[in-house]
Amino acid sequence: PTNNLQMEGSSNLRWENCRAKGGSPGFKVAILGAAGGIGQPLAMLMKMNPLVSLLHLYDVVNTPGVTADISHMDTGAVVRGFLGQQQLEDALTGMDLVIIPAGVPRKPGMTRDDLFNINAGIVRTLCEGISKCCPKATVNLISNPVNSTVPIAAEVFKKAGTYDPRRLLGVTMLDVVRANTFVAEVLGLDPRDVDVPVVGGHAGVTILPLLSQVKPPCSFTQEETEYLTSRIQNGGTEVVEAKAGAGSATLSMAYAAVKFADACLHALRGDAGVIECAFVSSQVTELPFFASRVRLGRNGVEEIYPLGPLNEYERVGLEKAKKELAGSIEKGISFVGK
Ligand code: NAI
Repeated sequence: PTNNLQMEGSSNLRWENCRAKGGSPGFKVAILGAAGGIGQPLAMLMKMNPLVSLLHLYDVVNTPGVTADISHMDTGAVVRGFLGQQQLEDALTGMDLVIIPAGVPRKPGMTRDDLFNINAGIVRTLCEGISKCCPKATVNLISNPVNSTVPIAAEVFKKAGTYDPRRLLGVTMLDVVRANTFVAEVLGLDPRDVDVPVVGGHAGVTILPLLSQVKPPCSFTQEETEYLTSRIQNGGTEVVEAKAGAGSATLSMAYAAVKFADACLHALRGDAGVIECAFVSSQVTELPFFASRVRLGRNGVEEIYPLGPLNEYERVGLEKAKKELAGSIEKGISFVGK
């Protein structure tokens, strides 16, 4: 045996076959970077998702322990671990959804763009594996800088001839989750009743909350608008500073990633009316990628909604966001061109 994970997998075969016969259709989901700060709680929460029948946990370190641990949870999904590059293809083969939180996180004083040099190469390698082993899978890309890693993934898929823009989604859900929480605090509401569209991208000024379109309808003073916009844009930095060198958001990110992945799975199953914000290939602006509200379906992104009416504050924010985004997108595209 090459490792104890495979042995454990084969001893489970009878149990897996038995469940496959009588069980629900369920989706096959891989997490790449599954042993990390986001990866571990994300793996745990995906193991609890009733739409998942098979969960593949891949990382370059520590997957045996994480897999053994999570596999003891008495939920439906079967868990298998994969360790190191030589097991990447096995981890990806047959997957319906691939979630990627692999790569280094920020430390205090760093921007997301400072992560580019390391994470760009990691994302390229993982996406090459996806084109080869599960070219039809939906991809949820979490690794930062999302504004550049999504264009990198698109270029890798184009080169391989497997690019389907509807199936590549940059995860900006944490910005929405934060926006809902902070807006609810200001309005004195339950965050579950609040829905804030956040558009643009996933870094600093590219994160553009549309406070004029909050549901339920409400209004903010200029002071509240500035406070909320700034807090939503800097939510990640708030966590990086509080963790003081121990990483960036992991628990709230795992929550947001699962919320997003669950929406993707419901859409893949054929549920109607699944609408979320995501950073995708888009014609909503002149930029090739942009985050906005999208309707998800069996084929991934099936409709991209226009931004809707913006107020003056948001129009100014949009121009700033587009300027920075253009550079980040170009940086991603030219990385693969090299
Ligand atoms: P972490 O360092 O705790 O975990 C990253 C994991 O990736 C590690 O287990 C590491 O071994 C693994 N890894 C490294 N190279 C790999 C490779 N070639 N293949 C597979 N796995 C590999 O970092 P954390 O906190 O989990 O963050 C992960 C990424 O998510 C970072 O880039 C971070 O900036 C990003 N992030 C994105 C957010 C978003 O809203 N989209 C929010 C928070 C973080």
